[in-house]
Amino acid sequence: MSVIEKFTTMEYGPAPEDPKESLQWLDRHKHRFGHFIGGAWKAPAEGQYFDTLDPSTGEKIAEVAQGSVADVHAAVKAARNALKEWQALMPHARAKFLYALARQVQKHSRRLAVLETIDNGKPIRESRDIDIPLVVRHFYYHAGWAQLLEQEFPGYQACGVVGQIIPWNFPLLMLAWKIAPALATGNTVVLKPAEYTPLTALAFAEICDEVGLPKGVVNIVTGDGSTGEAIVKHSGVDKIAFTGSTEVGRAIRRATANSHKKLSLELGGKSPFLVFEDADLDSAVEGLVDGIWFNQGQVCCAGSRLLMQESIAEKLTRKLQMRMSTLRVGAPLDKAIDIGAIVARVQLDRIERLVKQGIAEGASCWQPEGVMPARGLYYKPTLLSNVHPSSIVAQEEIFGPVLAAMTFRTPKEAVELANNTAYGLAASVWSESVNVALQTAAQIKAGVVWVNSTNLFDAACGFGGYRESGFGREGGKEGLREYLELAWFRKAPALPKTSSKKSDQADVASPTVDRTVKLYIGGKQARPDSGYSLEIRGKNGKRLGESPLGNRKDIRNAVEAAHKAAGWAKTTAHNRAQVLYYVAENLSQRAGEISDRLAAAIGKKQAVQEVQFSIERLFSYAAWTDKFDGSVHNPPFRNISVAMNEPLGAVGVICPAEVPLLGFFSLVLPLVAAGNTVVVVPSETYPLITGDLYQVFDTSDVPGGVINMVPGRTSELLKVLAEHDDLAAVWCYGDDELCAAAKALSTGNLKQIFTNEGRTIDFFDPQQGEGPFYLLHAYQVKNIWVPYGE
Ligand code: NAI
Repeated sequence: MSVIEKFTTMEYGPAPEDPKESLQWLDRHKHRFGHFIGGAWKAPAEGQYFDTLDPSTGEKIAEVAQGSVADVHAAVKAARNALKEWQALMPHARAKFLYALARQVQKHSRRLAVLETIDNGKPIRESRDIDIPLVVRHFYYHAGWAQLLEQEFPGYQACGVVGQIIPWNFPLLMLAWKIAPALATGNTVVLKPAEYTPLTALAFAEICDEVGLPKGVVNIVTGDGSTGEAIVKHSGVDKIAFTGSTEVGRAIRRATANSHKKLSLELGGKSPFLVFEDADLDSAVEGLVDGIWFNQGQVCCAGSRLLMQESIAEKLTRKLQMRMSTLRVGAPLDKAIDIGAIVARVQLDRIERLVKQGIAEGASCWQPEGVMPARGLYYKPTLLSNVHPSSIVAQEEIFGPVLAAMTFRTPKEAVELANNTAYGLAASVWSESVNVALQTAAQIKAGVVWVNSTNLFDAACGFGGYRESGFGREGGKEGLREYLELAWFRKAPALPKTSSKKSDQADVASPTVDRTVKLYIGGKQARPDSGYSLEIRGKNGKRLGESPLGNRKDIRNAVEAAHKAAGWAKTTAHNRAQVLYYVAENLSQRAGEISDRLAAAIGKKQAVQEVQFSIERLFSYAAWTDKFDGSVHNPPFRNISVAMNEPLGAVGVICPAEVPLLGFFSLVLPLVAAGNTVVVVPSETYPLITGDLYQVFDTSDVPGGVINMVPGRTSELLKVLAEHDDLAAVWCYGDDELCAAAKALSTGNLKQIFTNEGRTIDFFDPQQGEGPFYLLHAYQVKNIWVPYGE
């Protein structure tokens, strides 16, 4: 072809990356890998290996060990043995190791990029220019945290041995997201890469060896889901960090419920990509290329739902189709390829099945012309238009290069459509109007929102989901906290098993007698649906009154009321503080009568103290309300990322039995201060407190529905709260059994569960009873990325 011809056709010639160095590395290992345990390569205990394939050719690259329970056990043991030495290091010494890892990854970046590409199928352009540089950035950034840890996190300690399970879409990057913060905070690690893409994790193991990382600090065990399960279930593991599908996330939540393992889950998404009529459409098209065709769409935060304002839908679709026609699908090692291979046959089958189903449900499918490679696992960039919001392709994660397009008319409709998903990982918002963009960003329920940009990541900016996209963050300060625990909390003694059996207090048919308290729902007193009450007796057996026996229906009504009161989140922090001060004032005016009544249940001394401390706690949270701010990050791009603390939504609360008043306030106040609304089950020891509290709330301008109270049998009502799909979280204080039940029952919508882990908390000690320990659970962080410059 002549230069003139080339100029007119603009055809690319082949430009393959040289795989020599990676192939030599594979040769050196004879294309067969054991596990990396205790700083050495170990053959699998059961002698089983499996193949890892190049999805662009179907050819075998290497054999990798299948991890068994015994292998996992050996790795956990090695990690446990290494813990003491690793934690004894000065922060600076740990920082140096992280720094050395960053340097060494940088040094081997070409080998790692090629390995990633042949194992996963992603274009070399992406592994070389995006994945590996971000890996390096992660280790550098966390080297800094290792250095600063003691200054910035006083009172915290490492979790211990951490089990980490990662997916195949960004194999080395997900490893870095997991290992860097774990090591920086003084944990040791057992990591399992995904079965389709184990190679870069094994190459990283060798790098750990090269930099002289103490043996056993990082252990890599390869294998499939059963190996992951063995890590999750191992009693020697203190924390699990998982990235992968929501289904496996649910299984892990269930499997860890009966333990004190800390858990962070980064799960799937169905992220909206909103284009308003005033957007720069050409930039939005480029954004879509990065949003849905980056990594063949196998990205948890892929902008897989295109929401276009009706007035520009046709124009944008045309521009998009033109751009799609220029995307090159082909051999991922070719430097001029945009779309590489799909990771595995099952994944390709899944994409094909879902697209077919979407078409059957009414979507029209458009794909560009163009020749596809003759072999390997490929899928054309695909645009599905006229997608109904309830169609499977608008609801389920396809995890492929498939964009589902819909239209909207007004910004309100755009937000409704954007939030019409069980997920909440990310969103992109395109508008030249800063008001429209930021107003929309604030309303979208997602952990990351990119304004006029997409798929930007940085180690300094927390990443993670709302709702069924999981909980916990990776990156930033919030990501580090996932690997730390407060030392006092860790050491707190176990709470004696609380007996909340029916025999304690008898059910009686209401009404009658002295003091009959009601439920408090939507700012109004309400009778229990059951018509039953509990007779409450004091310390000396004296009858104190009757408390309603709330049931499932009452909780349902209370949750509805809590949702109706969602405007509480939008009132200013200043106003919320004023309400709390007002509650304090009214509580102090009634201090005498309330403590007299409380005294009959728990004794005079404690009653007086509880009232006094409750007033202080109210002052404390009134103070926090307008001070627990987010932060602004400066990632190394022309962007700022605004990390906002947002409330979770409607939250269920199970109050501690032994401190009826102070326990109530210690759990409810941080939530309410943060802008959440609550459905509270007051202490079963003295539920009559409900009557005193609603009188105080009624006279203190607490808007109806912000605090709802449903007394009843704790364990029965916990079940209803934990299973309720419209609650964003449950805070549960009780013995081990109750806390485990809260976790196990919450898997339906994967709500966040915050418990005392069955431990005794001294609510009279402000260090244990109030402050950031609680507030950090009352908020979730949303990072809004805003570009600046020209
Ligand atoms: P997966 O969730 O099964 O695999 C992720 C990791 O979990 C792998 O390392 C796997 O071996 C491990 N694993 C599987 N079962 C486990 C168990 N019971 N206990 C502990 N670990 C276990 O994801 P899969 O099957 O590879 O992909 C299926 C779908 O999941 C994709 O189509 C996509 O929709 C979604 N996905 C989402 C990811 C994300 O980044 N959010 C990543 C990978 C997949």
